[in-house]
Amino acid sequence: MTADGGRRRLLIRDLAQLATPAGRHSPLRGGDLGRVDVIDDAYVLCEDGDIAAVGQMRDLAPIAGDVNELDGRDLCAVPGLVDCHTHACFLGDRVEEFALRAAGASYEELHAAGGGIMSTVRSTRAGSQDDLLEAVRRHRDWMLRAGTTTFECKSGYGLDRETELASLRSIREGGGIATWLGAHAVPPEFDDADRYLDFTLGEVLPDAATIAQAADVFLEDGTFDAAQARRYLEACAERGLALRIHGDQFTEQGAVPLAVELGARSIDHLEATGAGGVRTLAASDVTAVLLPASALFLGRPMPPARELVDAGAAVAIATDFNPGSAFCESLPLVCSLAATQLHLTPAEALCACTVNAAHVLGLASATGRLAPGFRADLTLISAPDWRYFAYHLGGAVVAGVVLGGEVRELG
Ligand code: NIG
Ligand code: FE
Repeated sequence: MTADGGRRRLLIRDLAQLATPAGRHSPLRGGDLGRVDVIDDAYVLCEDGDIAAVGQMRDLAPIAGDVNELDGRDLCAVPGLVDCHTHACFLGDRVEEFALRAAGASYEELHAAGGGIMSTVRSTRAGSQDDLLEAVRRHRDWMLRAGTTTFECKSGYGLDRETELASLRSIREGGGIATWLGAHAVPPEFDDADRYLDFTLGEVLPDAATIAQAADVFLEDGTFDAAQARRYLEACAERGLALRIHGDQFTEQGAVPLAVELGARSIDHLEATGAGGVRTLAASDVTAVLLPASALFLGRPMPPARELVDAGAAVAIATDFNPGSAFCESLPLVCSLAATQLHLTPAEALCACTVNAAHVLGLASATGRLAPGFRADLTLISAPDWRYFAYHLGGAVVAGVVLGGEVRELG
């Protein structure tokens, strides 16, 4: 409502196209993943932060009262993009390692030598809560400029009580959906993963669970094994957190069956998943979150995306934005990779980073579609056809976003 009691209205008119995932259910699977409703010469009416109506210009009824108008000529509207997997709360960078990797060093070698994730842990621990909040806000602004209107963000670069909790608070304050990645790596002050879990489950979880929505673990050879991941996730579930797993990134270590057994919201990465894992996921309610920018950045195989979709698994895509394995905040770029590397159609890619990503975050009834009753979050594409958001590789396709009915970042 406005100060004088009227409704706060925004009319986006004369859009070249509006594209939105069809239907109302989530997650979308199989053939439904590529079902997109496209309206030519479209309008969107937003009222008090929500979508009130969408349709064709010729059907637009006269609107009584005050309304702000946005000229949508030469623009296409899609739902505000949802990034359901980022590590945007970090300080410092890994540009030296990037150069070393370019010259032939592997990500696993750098990690084993105390670099990789631990190098970002050192720089993140050295900062204050204000520094962390500033970093989250800076990265959020990058994401917003790339068309992301909702983002999840993990902790996991603190791994001590103070920095983990400061990270989660900064993520919340910076507008993100917070995930506690307390089991990202074993910090050097602990001899082994079990002793570290004793500490973090005893000393950090009780407070982390009051700030975060979900918990995540890096289940991989050399970090946390399946038994340790189970212990961590079961303790987190008891505190009411939803469960996520970084699984099958380099090797299959039992992450898929564990995710299914524990009823995890998602398993993320899956670059190493074989046919058995694809079948198990397809028969489950666990969403497979694919991160092609990370596979590309590390020169790893792409996950079996086509197989997962065709087998009927719920599939989402995300950036994995982080300083080491995916320094990329752009979902449109990830959608280009989804089309060229994962063999998803632009329609499948759109559904995977809107409805299905919102589903992973438990937000599918609020965002991810352009339909009455949904939050008025839109991404405006500067192109004659909405599919340019995936087609224009690395292009400046995002003209701006609408966030809760307010126009933002429009150039
Ligand atoms: O999702 N695999 C574990 N974690 C992150 C990478 C974090 C980093 O390299 O800083 C990932 O790729
Ligand atoms: Fe990740």
